[in-house]
Amino acid sequence: MFQVNLLTLFPEMFPGMLGHSLAGRALEDKRWAYTAVNIRDFAADKHKTVDDTPFGGGAGMVMRPDVIEAALLSLPAPGRKIYMSPRGKVLDQKLVHELAAEPALTILCGRYEGVDQRVLDAHDFEEVSIGDYVLSGGEPAAMIVMDACIRLLPGVMGNVETAGEESFSNGLLEYPHYTRPAEWIAVDGRPFAVPEVLRSGDHGKIAEWRHHQSREITRKRRPDLLG
Ligand code: ADE
Repeated sequence: MFQVNLLTLFPEMFPGMLGHSLAGRALEDKRWAYTAVNIRDFAADKHKTVDDTPFGGGAGMVMRPDVIEAALLSLPAPGRKIYMSPRGKVLDQKLVHELAAEPALTILCGRYEGVDQRVLDAHDFEEVSIGDYVLSGGEPAAMIVMDACIRLLPGVMGNVETAGEESFSNGLLEYPHYTRPAEWIAVDGRPFAVPEVLRSGDHGKIAEWRHHQSREITRKRRPDLLG
């Protein structure tokens, strides 16, 4: 089973969206499990202090290394340690495959300005970003990492072929999809037809058309993926 340990000041945020749909079913089926550890439970003082002002001055508060370490040490099997941060390596499908193959992950979710660098260094946390924008905390980022991993776990997605054809698995964005009705009129009266080739029954031609669509949409939207 894929075990995810979360170190967070907001354990009640979990499982959140991961309790629904595909991930929620997989959680019920025990294909993955999580433990949300409240970092505040490991504060040593009577005020349950988890953060302090930064050395050197500046805005915001920084989470204390001793409190985070105590929370980490409470885990019997932390596995691969990840700190969600916009400074990290940007998550991509290759890293998702790697993480999904681990028996356990421990994801540290920061709040405030961040966490003391020393606890990241001392415990070899890998910093992972979900993209070039800044969230108010690591929890939604952790959920995104988890969602991307969970759908790859054995038995979670029924149709194995789906995972092979989707965006990024072949380095390209996915081709467009169509279903019934074959002729559809939008509310403003404009007709939209399904591309004829998809109704031809010629599977060779369909595969060729889809590959061409994939290449064109990748060239237009994400030329960086073509290298
Ligand atoms: N925490 C705040 N912003 C983040 C981001 N972009 N990725 C990961 N964790 C974050």
